Amino acid sequence: MRRPEDLRSHRWLGVHDLRAFGHRSRLQQMGYDRADFAGKPVIAIVNTWSDINQCHAHLRIRAEEVKRGVWQAGGFPLELPAMSLSEPFVKPTTMLYRNFLAMEVEELLRSHPVDGAILLGGCDKTTPGLLMGAISMGLPCLFVPAGPMLRGNWRGEVLGSGSDSWKYWDELRAGNITEADWEEIEGGIARSYGTCMTMGTAASMMAVAEALGFTLPNASSIPAADANHPRMATGAGRRIVEMVWQDLTPEKILSPEAVHNALVVHNAMGGSTNVIIHLIAIARRAGIPLDLHAFDAISRQVPVIANVRPSGKYLMEDFWYAGGLRGLMSRLREHLHLDLETVAGRSWHDILQGAEVYHPDVIRPVDDPVFAEGATAVLTGNLAPAGAVMKPAAAQPDLLKHRGPALVFPDYDSMARAVEDEGLEVTREHVLILQNAGPQGGPGMPEWGMLPIPRKLLRQGVRDMLRISDARMSGTSYGACILHVAPEAWVGGPLALVRTGDEIEVDVSARSLNVRLDEREMQRRREAWTPPLPRYQRGWGALFQQHIGQADQGCDFDILQAGAATPEPEIH
Ligand code: FES
Repeated sequence: MRRPEDLRSHRWLGVHDLRAFGHRSRLQQMGYDRADFAGKPVIAIVNTWSDINQCHAHLRIRAEEVKRGVWQAGGFPLELPAMSLSEPFVKPTTMLYRNFLAMEVEELLRSHPVDGAILLGGCDKTTPGLLMGAISMGLPCLFVPAGPMLRGNWRGEVLGSGSDSWKYWDELRAGNITEADWEEIEGGIARSYGTCMTMGTAASMMAVAEALGFTLPNASSIPAADANHPRMATGAGRRIVEMVWQDLTPEKILSPEAVHNALVVHNAMGGSTNVIIHLIAIARRAGIPLDLHAFDAISRQVPVIANVRPSGKYLMEDFWYAGGLRGLMSRLREHLHLDLETVAGRSWHDILQGAEVYHPDVIRPVDDPVFAEGATAVLTGNLAPAGAVMKPAAAQPDLLKHRGPALVFPDYDSMARAVEDEGLEVTREHVLILQNAGPQGGPGMPEWGMLPIPRKLLRQGVRDMLRISDARMSGTSYGACILHVAPEAWVGGPLALVRTGDEIEVDVSARSLNVRLDEREMQRRREAWTPPLPRYQRGWGALFQQHIGQADQGCDFDILQAGAATPEPEIH
């Protein structure tokens, strides 16, 4: 157990010198009394609330509820705002800024008199950004997930975030619903604050954060609008104060076994392919090696048991009522390391004691899964030497082994125009290929990987076809989409060399992805390829361009991965 003089904040607030006088007098300027902070752990509440983040609309008040818990436990709470990263509004893509948030969190914590941190977030990139920064800083930290929004509703029909947008957009394009229907759907699909309530990146990453051990038990799927949510937030405030006294730092939580548990949970949830990138980055921040093949290996062992859209039928609100992540993990005991400690100060053995599943169709038994395997397949071949990923469960089965001519688009705009052209020469046998949508090319690897089905084919009733890109795909999307091709086209990966008419061969059971060209022809094209000019000359874009890694490496900056420690600031 640490003493007050062991606290990091003691250097700012506890010593008898002119600097500490200044720090204390400035706290008193804000109306705090010495009794509010003297000898107490200072808890940063890193809040990704903003007026334009719909998923985090409640985090302003949740911060107050966290503070209540911090005060109760004898800590001193300070709210520190951080970049909000609203998935729909931030352009060109939030992924351009995940590492920005991670850097911001790390430096916020480093530069202030902070002993521990509560991380408030949940909308897609905020969870990995918050965790990556806090892990690199190394102070005790606890993640408070924003939680999913309530189910969508349209004329009594349940609507799911993302998935039903894509579905009804295609129906509108095919002429099966009216503009008036579409407007009604717009008003009914997102009914409350909270994150997307399908198994998108948000729900997947919040579950992964819990499985890694960074949340209170069963926190990750509490609906944002449920009264359990503020109670959980207050409990987190109490607990982080204890964690500081116990010096329960992230390195004591994050082990290779904890990463294994996260892989198991991600797979059993049928989680988003984006998690692959984020979990690699998170693990590597802690110096834990993790690569794509670990995801493929787990995918062959662990069934998908969460029956949640887009792979399944229900939504996250149903998942919570069915028992939440605690219920799901109780069904996976044989795959999990149960003796690990979490931020709750309890092992999984203890946390899963008495856990139950209340709706067995929502969280299925292991012997009656939604899919026996296949949440993630990692494909390699001459088109993706460093790997590409796919969610076979979300694809029409006949497309899992396919050979067809490529229809290549060098950028998003030309693709978007072409698919609306009724005269486009395309059949369901074609393989749509989008180049230059990777980490450098997008830039920021946008979620363009679910390329739209050409309008002409939609009218013929086609709803899935093989699509390949170096982009990502929203976890709420579906279809036979091969994503994250590495190395990306922009840096001269083989995807840049493919031309319309080349024959593409995909065999998911063999985990292969090839273009049927001999190496001599590939080499000829490689030599003729000219690299694009750098997009940014200044600012964040230039920094991003210089340091961003490829998808199979987690898209982290080389300068932010585990290595030499950054010194503590001098206090002069
Ligand atoms: Fe925030 Fe989907 S838009 S989680």
